[in-house]
Parts: sequence; structure tokens; C-alpha cells
Amino acid sequence: MTGGAIIGAVIDRLIGIVGDAHVLRDPDVTAGYSTDWTRRFVGSTPLVVRPADTAQTAAVIEVLAAAGIAVVPQGGNTGLVGGSVPLRGETVLSMRRLSECEPTDELAAQVTVGAGATLADVQAHVAPSGLSVGVDLAARDSATIGGMVATNAGGINVLRYGAMRAQVVGIEAVLASGAIVSHLSGLEKDNTGYDLGSLLAGSEGTLGVITRVRLRLHPTQTECATALLAFDSAQDAVAAAAALRRSVSSLHALEAVFDSAMALVSAHLGVAPPVGSVGDGATGAAWLVAEAAARSDPSDELGEAVADLEALVTDAAVALEPAARQRLWAFRENVTEAISAAGIPHKLDVTLPAAQLAEFTEGVPGVVRAADPGAQPLLFGHLGDGNVHVNVLGPAGAEPAESVDDAVLHYVASLGGSISAEHGIGTAKLSQLHLNRTPAELAAFSAIKQALDPDRMLNPNVLLPQPG
Ligand code: FAD
Ligand code: MLT
Ligand code: ZN
Repeated sequence: MTGGAIIGAVIDRLIGIVGDAHVLRDPDVTAGYSTDWTRRFVGSTPLVVRPADTAQTAAVIEVLAAAGIAVVPQGGNTGLVGGSVPLRGETVLSMRRLSECEPTDELAAQVTVGAGATLADVQAHVAPSGLSVGVDLAARDSATIGGMVATNAGGINVLRYGAMRAQVVGIEAVLASGAIVSHLSGLEKDNTGYDLGSLLAGSEGTLGVITRVRLRLHPTQTECATALLAFDSAQDAVAAAAALRRSVSSLHALEAVFDSAMALVSAHLGVAPPVGSVGDGATGAAWLVAEAAARSDPSDELGEAVADLEALVTDAAVALEPAARQRLWAFRENVTEAISAAGIPHKLDVTLPAAQLAEFTEGVPGVVRAADPGAQPLLFGHLGDGNVHVNVLGPAGAEPAESVDDAVLHYVASLGGSISAEHGIGTAKLSQLHLNRTPAELAAFSAIKQALDPDRMLNPNVLLPQPG
């Protein structure tokens, strides 16, 4: 058979498995699956396949593997490191149709959901049981549970509940061989060998395609207090964040927006923050969003902790009602959107040790400008976790020089930090992975890949360096 005939035969078999409507070939339609959320990573694909369940996923993978066709698993395509799009012509395996949520298991405080269920759908599904998902992030309406496990997503509540890996009590996935591994009993204690859920969390679609996830849930904290705190310097904000972590037992989120990002987001929203003054983006000022949440009103605990910070905080706004709290959150939650509206950023998502956090936030703008004098650094992030998002725009919204990424990530590594806090490695940071991982660790990664996906069928260009 010719190449074209082989592809034709493969397509016929795929249509036999998922139905004609779910084997997408029209370039106008597949384009949406080939460009990432930031528009920095643009690929192309001849084929998007949309299975409906685990059995179809396994059958599709068997057919594609037999034909030697590599696959990029895709959920909501909100990933920010170029790992969810077919940059080398791979076939896209869209998991969004696996969106079923099983009834919430109130006895165990757990729920089993399809990998394609969005975070917002799962949040709404478990809410009537007085339970919540431990991870929350601004992309909740599109990001899927499968994608969030595959990236070990973090978000705004990691300081309380941990990242996505900590929410996984069971997993079902299809391996590159087409074999289905399913361990969804939800036993909290289960030491029966390797924990495949932990291994797949953060594997970025390179070891298996996640089809169902059993999530640990948490009692919903019904009472919330949110404060927006203004500071004259990043150093003061970092010191205050450390103090709040030590003193507020109900601390639920502790986020930062630094001067240049605040200037951009407030212009985007058309509203100035109620505290602090937004300058030209180079004043060194900083803001924290601190949220306390509990079953009984946590506002006294938060208020007393903020009062103790009077030497650092220049002004504070506190809100208790949902709409007022949301108005404060808007200055943090809309930063990503404001940056994207301004151009195509390079997104450098990093963590620093607590002792180096202040030095980094003050030093990194200089590192960016030394690498590309026209580049604009924008800083925000999950300061409570030591996680800073360094976003960089080039002149007039263009991309900055590639050398910016290298300069910032080397700076992070020199301070003992991680080059990826929560977004993963994808294709964006593949060439810098060695900054955080030793040759022995990289060899272990490759051995795991070789064991589970010897022919490199699953996301072959992501996370792991090419062999040889
Ligand atoms: P995709 O983007 O589709 O895929 C991401 C990776 O997972 C890819 O490597 C893909 O191959 C793999 N993958 C997807 N589904 C599967 C599956 N079923 N099986 C195996 N592999 C799979 N991230 C954070 O960590 N914290 C944040 O606070 C945060 N906020 C965000 C805010 C905005 C506005 C945006 C746009 C993004 C944000 N992100 C954040 C990034 C993104 O939402 C997360 O990485 C999320 O986990 C990706 O989920 P997804 O379903 O969109 O996955
Ligand atoms: C966030 O915290 O807002 C996200 O991780 C998205 C981003 O980095 O832009
Ligand atoms: Zn983030």
C-alpha cells in the first residue's frame, strides 16, 4: 500500500471506532487544536480524533501505534508550555468528550470523573455535597481534569491543599501499547506497589493517556475574607507574605501582582486598584491578595494578622461579600488575559526558595532587560508558594528574544529555584531541563519512557530530551 493508502486505511479504522463526526480533518477545524492559548506555539495536524470513552481511546491508540503515528493528548488546550499542540505534525487525541462525572461519593469525600470534564464542571458537580476540589485556577472553564493531572497543575490554593498530584486517589489511563490500567477504588491507604497516579501526574502526556480520575475532595470553606494589600516594594510584599503564612491558620490563597503587571491589568480592566498607586510600572510597588477561608468567619484572624503588618503594608482593602471579594480578585485573576491582550508573551513560571524570593523579584527585571533591552518583564504569581510568573513581552507586543528565557531560567537555577513551578516543561523549557535535573535523573526519566512507550508514540517531543 502507498503512504496515502495507509493513511486512508487508518482513517477508515478510526472512523469505525469513534464515528465520522469525531475524526476531524478539515484544516479550518483542526487549526483550533493546533495553536496554543498564548499563540506562541503554532503547529499543524492532519487529524484530530475525539474518542468518547476509555475503550475507544485504547482502540484509537492501538490503531495509531500500529501505523507508527505519534499522538499529542489534548484536554482544554490551556497549557502554557507548548505541550498540548502538534508542533511536528502529530495526530491530536482530544479527550474533551470523556466528560462524565460519576455521583459524588459523600462517604469517602471523593469523586470519579472523566479526563475531559472541565474543572468548573467538577466544581459545580461536587458543590451540593458541601465539597470542593483542592485545586483552583483561572482557566477553570476550559482546563480539564486530565490535563490538570497531566501537568500537575497548581493554582491559587496549593498552600492549603497541595497541587493536582495531591488530589489524585486513583487513575485510569491507556498506555502506548493500548493496555488499560485502572485503579479507581479510592482506598486512602493502598501500598500495593508503584503509584501510577503519581507517576502520570506531571508526565505531560508522555507516559499514558489519562481517561478517568478519582479525586480527593475537601470540605467547602463557607466563610471567606479577602484582602488586597499594597506595598512600596517587592521586598516588603515578600516579608509580609512570609508573615501571613506563619500566622493565618485559615490562609486559603496568597497571590502577588507586581507594579508592571498591576499597571497592565488595571488599564485592561479600566479600573485602578482601591489601594496603592499604580505608576508607570517601574515604581517597585507590589500588591498581595490574601484570602482566609474557614467554616466560621475568618475575618478577625485575617484582620489581626494584617494589623500586625503595619510597618510593611501601606494600605489595605478587605471584602467579605462575594461580589466585593471578586472585585479585589479581578486585579490578580485577569493578569494573564491582560498580558495576552497586549501581545504574545514568553511565560516563565518559576519557584524560588523563600530566602531568595525578594532578591529574585527585585533582580529579575534587570536580567530580562540585559538579555533584550526592548523587553518588558511583568511579574505576578502565587507568592505564598514562592511561585513567581515572569511574563515577558517584546516591543509592541511582539515576542521577546529567545535569549530572555535562557537568562531568566539560568538566574533561577543559580538561586536554587525551579524552572517550572506548575506549568510543566512542555516544549518551551525542554532545553533547560538539565538546569534542575541531574544526568542520573534524566537517565531515569528516559528509562521510564522507554519502558512504557518504547516507540515514542505519546507526546514524543515534550518534556524529555530526544534520545541519542
Ligand atoms: P492541555 O493544555 O490540553 O494539555 C496540557 C498537557 O497535558 C499537554 O502536555 C497534554 O498533552 C497533556 N494532556 C492533556 N490531557 C491529557 C490526558 N487526558 N492524558 C494525558 N495527557 C494529557 N496552570 C497552573 O498550574 N496554575 C494556574 O494558576 C493556571 N492558571 C491559568 C490561567 C489561564 C488563564 C490559563 C490560560 C492557563 C492557566 N494555567 C494554570 C495553565 C493550564 O490551565 C494548566 O496547565 C492546565 O492544567 C491545563 O489543562 P488542559 O486541560 O487545558 O490541558
Ligand atoms: C496564573 O497563575 O495566573 C497562571 O498560572 C497563568 C499564567 O501564568 O499566566
Ligand atoms: Zn499560576
